[in-house]
Amino acid sequence: MVVVIDILRATSSITTAIAHGVEAIKPVESLVECRQLMMDGHIGAAERGGKKVGGFEVGNSPFSYMNPEFEDKKIAMTTTNGTVTLKKSKGALQVLVGSFLNYSALLSYLERLPCDVLLHCAGWKGKVNMEDTLFAGAIIYGLKQMFEYNSDAPMMAANLYKQAKNNLKAAIEDSSHVSRLIKLGLEKDVDFCLKFDEYKVIPILKGEYITKLKLSDMLF
Ligand code: MLT
Repeated sequence: MVVVIDILRATSSITTAIAHGVEAIKPVESLVECRQLMMDGHIGAAERGGKKVGGFEVGNSPFSYMNPEFEDKKIAMTTTNGTVTLKKSKGALQVLVGSFLNYSALLSYLERLPCDVLLHCAGWKGKVNMEDTLFAGAIIYGLKQMFEYNSDAPMMAANLYKQAKNNLKAAIEDSSHVSRLIKLGLEKDVDFCLKFDEYKVIPILKGEYITKLKLSDMLF
């Protein structure tokens, strides 16, 4: 079981899209594949370096996915890190999408699972980042002692969250990606992606598409 985490902003945007009625999202690694899917009736969503890529309908701002015109539609999505991480996670028993926006819904599912859970932080271009580690820590903190850990890393992340939980934004305001997004005029995206429990949906990658986790998908 894998939870993919890319708080700023892929998994926050995916959670928002599914919560707002998007039928399914196909994460792809290349702009070419994304463009081809647009010709096949998908809405094209592409971000590189935090910016929307020209020629695509949307980038990776969660606010772009609140569009009622996207309801019941399919989206092809490619981002710098999040969609790569999703593809790398394929093959796991289940691949779920985690964000602060669906924190409690995700936690209440994880705490009842009879299997190992890997929290897969996207980071930035293969390197650790603050916000994804912070969210992983929030999950571990919320799960308390229900799981055994295979290293000190989970406890380190949980301690990071314990210290930051009263003001998440202050804890990550100097992080590389927050600085990048603020420079791009996207501070409102940062603020929104740090909100707890805006939505109750849990997106799940099944085959090639991300859809809403249904009762029939549950492992218990
Ligand atoms: C990503 O998927 O790489 C990130 O979400 C980048 C972004 O949207 O700013």
